[in-house]
Amino acid sequence: MPTLTQEPMTYGILAWEGLALLSNAGIANAAQEARWLLERALQTTGLRLRVESDRPVSEEHRNLAWSLLTRRVAGEPLQYLLGTQEFCGLEFEVGPAVLIPRPETELLVGEVREIAGREAAPLVADIGTGSGCIAVALACAMPNAQVYATDRSAEALAVARRNGGRHGVMERVRFLEGDLLAPLAGLGLEGQLAAVVSNPPYIPADDLPGLQREVRREPRAALDGGPDGLAFYRRLLREAKPYLAPGGTMVLEVGQGQAESVCRMAEESGGYGLCGVRRDGADIERVVCLQNDEC
Ligand SMILES: C[S@@+](CC[C@H](N)C(=O)[O-])C[C@H]1O[C@@H](n2cnc3c(N)ncnc32)[C@H](O)[C@@H]1O
Repeated sequence: MPTLTQEPMTYGILAWEGLALLSNAGIANAAQEARWLLERALQTTGLRLRVESDRPVSEEHRNLAWSLLTRRVAGEPLQYLLGTQEFCGLEFEVGPAVLIPRPETELLVGEVREIAGREAAPLVADIGTGSGCIAVALACAMPNAQVYATDRSAEALAVARRNGGRHGVMERVRFLEGDLLAPLAGLGLEGQLAAVVSNPPYIPADDLPGLQREVRREPRAALDGGPDGLAFYRRLLREAKPYLAPGGTMVLEVGQGQAESVCRMAEESGGYGLCGVRRDGADIERVVCLQNDEC
């Protein structure tokens, strides 16, 4: 690993060395990532980095900057180093306990808003909430909604609760620890939910070692969908059904090539009608919407 130039360190030299470090390591967006990491480490803006290139950098700041840059070179995801990721126009805290929210997951929020937003006071559940991005975005978008958000990971829920607090929705989002919908038992929600939404782990277990190195740093529990990647859909179709209101909707994110299997599983499990499959920006079938057949 290259070492940092010694005295005197300035914004300009650090920016140049950071860019060189990330470029030489083959990071795709080296210029942008170096700038974001330096902005974070030096608590400054990209504009200041450029126009104040002679500004001296304290030893503490340069050590922090170098530490972030070298961690990035070693494969840590940029978002974990920056500590945040934008989702649905809101800034979310992220870290190694949670999956980094992806842009395609915003489609789920749009679908639920369209369905549940028609109701005066919709009840919605987000299963496997991770950073809380879906639950919090829904609560922000639907001021009359009550959202129940579950996750098996206590560490993820701690991040999700901070995100709920950050966006002022803790009174309307209940974060509950436990296995899928189990934490909803005893809350009187049977037959009440306008929508159950989930972005469950869906990577087939054998594919995990071949994932991009940054993705392999995300929690295994957020990725591993069992031998065929479909284990969570089987359970969600069965376990969510008793909680859906008549005509209520299940909105599921699926991996590439999984939509057909999930639709078939829903048909075989009975009690669901297909409302639609939505494609993401890369034209991949990404979201399956199913309606509880009961009227
Ligand atoms: C793919 S991540 C989705 C996180 C977030 N909803 C998002 O879209 O960015 C799946 C989440 O499900 C959680 N999870 C995995 N198995 C679970 C289970 N049996 N019960 C509840 N949550 C589970 C993981 O901890 C992880 O946070």
